[in-house]
Amino acid sequence: GLPEAVTIYEVGPRDGLQNEKAVVPLAVKAEFVTRLLDAGLPIVEATSFVHPRWVPQLADAAELMTELGDRLGDRARDLPVLVPNDRGLDRALALGQRHVAVFGSATETFAQRNLNCGYEEQFAMFAPVVERSLAAGIDVRAYVSMCFGDPWEGPVALERVVAAGVRLLGLGASQLSLGDTIGVATAGHVTALIEAFGAAGVGVDRLALHFHDTYGQALANVQAGLRAGVTTFDASAGGLGGCPYARSATGNLATEDLVWMLEGLGIAHGVDLAAVAATSAWMAGHLGRPSPSAAARALAPA
Ligand code: HMG
Ligand code: MG
Repeated sequence: GLPEAVTIYEVGPRDGLQNEKAVVPLAVKAEFVTRLLDAGLPIVEATSFVHPRWVPQLADAAELMTELGDRLGDRARDLPVLVPNDRGLDRALALGQRHVAVFGSATETFAQRNLNCGYEEQFAMFAPVVERSLAAGIDVRAYVSMCFGDPWEGPVALERVVAAGVRLLGLGASQLSLGDTIGVATAGHVTALIEAFGAAGVGVDRLALHFHDTYGQALANVQAGLRAGVTTFDASAGGLGGCPYARSATGNLATEDLVWMLEGLGIAHGVDLAAVAATSAWMAGHLGRPSPSAAARALAPA
């Protein structure tokens, strides 16, 4: 059967806003994170400590975490943040963050384009980040991008994804989020990848799934994940998102789409759907365009 409960890992403030042309004001970002937490989302990834020239949209990461500390107190320290390297970890540590995420690539080309280093070099970059984090009692999530296809390299073999994931877990990451960065996955492929991880000794309890909805398959892919026993799914309020360094990456699976489906399946998630939809509608007003998610639009307050 399907799991009784799942964890929704909200990435809107990070994966969503990193891809917006407009730079969203700090106060709006802080309000966005706060509203998502108030809507019951148990985990909200807040920002990235990456190079501000690479992702200017999130250049205010330190100021945002300070503002969130003022609003939320100690709870702000538990919001995960992306860190690619030692410099990023230094910045996160200076603010007392307790959850960080590194982000690797299953392919050579995307490692070059997203991290400015080779496939092999990325592990050398992450190793000290994970080691120092664990020594400081900080939890590390690891993303793997291009798990189902790469815009430059085409199809990506299951073995390559498993190899990248096993190495990131081997460094000491607690959870692996399998990214369909450009949204090309279909359900059978998802099942096959989860089985391939299982055969390599990585159980579903260590996996999360991160879908983008480019081809409208994200929910079908979640279903495949649920059937296989995965219980953590990444989603973005209103379906915001994409990756500025991945050609053809469009919006993430919308949190509203996911919650709507989970409601129908009777799977517990702890999220107030109306509150998420109101938050997305409010954010769409700031961004000056409607949400790409049909569920988000259908649920938006009049
Ligand atoms: P680089 O230019 O090779 O960095 O960038 P470097 O190590 O050569 O350093 C150059 C300068 O940058 C130095 O300063 C460093 O201190 C500084 P200088 O000495 O010249 O004054 N620097 C930094 N400053 C602030 N914060 C830092 C930092 N690091 C170095 N962390 C780097 C390498 C990895 C930093 C760069 O490529 C980068 O920032 N990449 C991030 C790209 C990104 O954020 N992409 C989006 C997230 S991934 C994603 O969306 C996929 C995901 O959603 C899952 C999926 O869908 O698949 C997670
Ligand atoms: Mg993503």
